[in-house]
Amino acid sequence: MLSQKTIDIVKSTVPVLEKHGVDITKHFYKRMFTNHPELKNVFNQSNQREGRQPQALAASVYAAAANIDNLESILPVVHLIAHKHRALGILPEHYPIVGENLLAAIKEVLGDAATDEIIEAWADAYGVIADVFIQVEEELYQQAEANGGWRLFKPFKVVRKEQENELVASFYLEPEDGKALPPYQPGQYITVKVKAPEEEYTALRHYTVSQAPNGNVYRISVKREAENNPKGVVSNYLHDYVEEGSTIQISAPAGLFTLQQNDNPVLFIGGGIGVTPLYAMLDSMEFGRNVTFIQSVRNEKLAVFQDQIQKKINELKGSYFVKYSDTEGYITKEDLSKYIQENTEVYICGPEAFMETVISYVRELGVSEDRIHFEFFGPGLSFKA
Ligand code: HEM
Repeated sequence: MLSQKTIDIVKSTVPVLEKHGVDITKHFYKRMFTNHPELKNVFNQSNQREGRQPQALAASVYAAAANIDNLESILPVVHLIAHKHRALGILPEHYPIVGENLLAAIKEVLGDAATDEIIEAWADAYGVIADVFIQVEEELYQQAEANGGWRLFKPFKVVRKEQENELVASFYLEPEDGKALPPYQPGQYITVKVKAPEEEYTALRHYTVSQAPNGNVYRISVKREAENNPKGVVSNYLHDYVEEGSTIQISAPAGLFTLQQNDNPVLFIGGGIGVTPLYAMLDSMEFGRNVTFIQSVRNEKLAVFQDQIQKKINELKGSYFVKYSDTEGYITKEDLSKYIQENTEVYICGPEAFMETVISYVRELGVSEDRIHFEFFGPGLSFKA
């Protein structure tokens, strides 16, 4: 239990820390990677290079601290982050490392303004926040292990590799130990751990399982990135080095962007490779539920899963609408308005700008927040998202 004094100190200093957010974060990561270079095996070094995710972690510690007397209220976001952490193999022993380096960075940046009393209050608050994450993550580890699952990473064999189009390849993965796969929710992702030859550290990336559960195989569909794009370290490795018969390390399915089980009409809106979780959800549906699939993609050559979507839509007697942005422009609010009925549940996935636009359109069209489901690709989560 934190004392009222500690709570007051922490809450009153959150704005100061937020103000110096970028500086503290920079110091924090520099320090942590100097003292614990092994953590470079876990953190996405491309995000570090871009300086994007770095802010998500520290910013959420502050946001959690601002709610330190009511941590219940942030549990939904803790769960989202905890799914990512569990998928990455973050363990209780990592928390003190983050805590120690974050506090030291706060001290370094704020100097004398960070009195011993303030630092101690933050250390106590961080301990409480870390315990919440550790507990939620332990529950997720136990769930991952249940039903014949596994805790961290385990080797999977690529039993099939198939080019979906010029840039996207699907990999079909089976566990090397031959055990049955635990069930997963369509829309969930698995996390791949590889070590590319030119890289010093391992790299981890999440890929949505791109079809409904069907026996003993996971399929992921991976888009190749431009050669010099640091975001493509894992994707391009998979394209260039991983063939049928190769082995890669996978952690168990995670994620909360999944299909709601009710009778409401469903509208899927996918941009580019963002159709992958949406197709997995569609693939899992049974006849009887009203469904529409809208796909926005640059051109026919870059489109994925069109035959698979069409086949499933025919089975479900739904509607399928494709818009090629190179020749027909982007999806408009008018396009969407034709497919939104009362109670429609909307699922959106794609590049960030696409998502922002589409989310604002569906809000304007009157869809309530609890029926708008989305997932940003890449680091996007914070308590303010
Ligand atoms: C990602 C928060 C502790 C490792 C994230 C994200 C948030 C976050 C908001 C972004 C999620 C997303 O991209 O969707 C926190 C908070 C922590 C904490 C509030 C403490 C209370 C830790 C610890 C570790 C860790 C102890 C391991 C040393 C990571 C990694 C990522 C991540 C590797 C993925 C992003 C990347 O690779 O760049 N965390 N985190 N986190 N966190 Fe944490």
